[in-house]
Amino acid sequence: MKAVVLASGRGSNLEALLNHQQGYQICHLISNNHKAKALQTAQQHGVVNTYLNWHNSQEAELAASQIITQTQAELIILAGFMKILSATFVQRHSNQIINIHPSLLPKYPGLHTHQQVLDQGDTEHGASVHLVDELLDHGPVIAQTVIAVNQDDDAQSLAERLICKEHKLLTAVVGLIAQQQIKLSDQPMTYQGQTLLKPLVIE
Ligand code: GRF
Repeated sequence: MKAVVLASGRGSNLEALLNHQQGYQICHLISNNHKAKALQTAQQHGVVNTYLNWHNSQEAELAASQIITQTQAELIILAGFMKILSATFVQRHSNQIINIHPSLLPKYPGLHTHQQVLDQGDTEHGASVHLVDELLDHGPVIAQTVIAVNQDDDAQSLAERLICKEHKLLTAVVGLIAQQQIKLSDQPMTYQGQTLLKPLVIE
């Protein structure tokens, strides 16, 4: 299975995907940020990469769709992609786009999730991979990973502990989709032939 990744920054999730690639191939990296480390990472791995200026988001989305069509990618992975995709784009690639978000959705969509966990006094934090719909960090959650919040944690320590688990979560989910164990196109989506009633938990 071929997948296209969209990333805006550091690209550590992209790197984890590139190092894993079991049953799937990352065939193209698209970034809206010409300074993104993700572009260099793709380059180092010999993966075709494209910077798209997102000032005109409609044009950028059309160019992204063209790449997706040309590469015959079946999956679109948002891995730290900081632009909100239009309903038109989401519908054009319906049930094909997944996103990784650093919270236990539906808690804390948007930014500063680690600080929000601390402000709310939560004892657990985590990350989610979900199917993308028209809303921000929203759509059916496929799988999650959980970490405990320690008394001496700050936002940075939470982020550092969580990112390692994010890499495992994202590579595991993409692997399961590639093996057709998870079928995003089933409505509602299925895992091993059964409707996915609650998110899978990836350790
Ligand atoms: C990750 O925490 C991801 O969950 C969020 O943005 C961050 C991207 O990190 N959507 P990286 O660019 O993959 O290192």
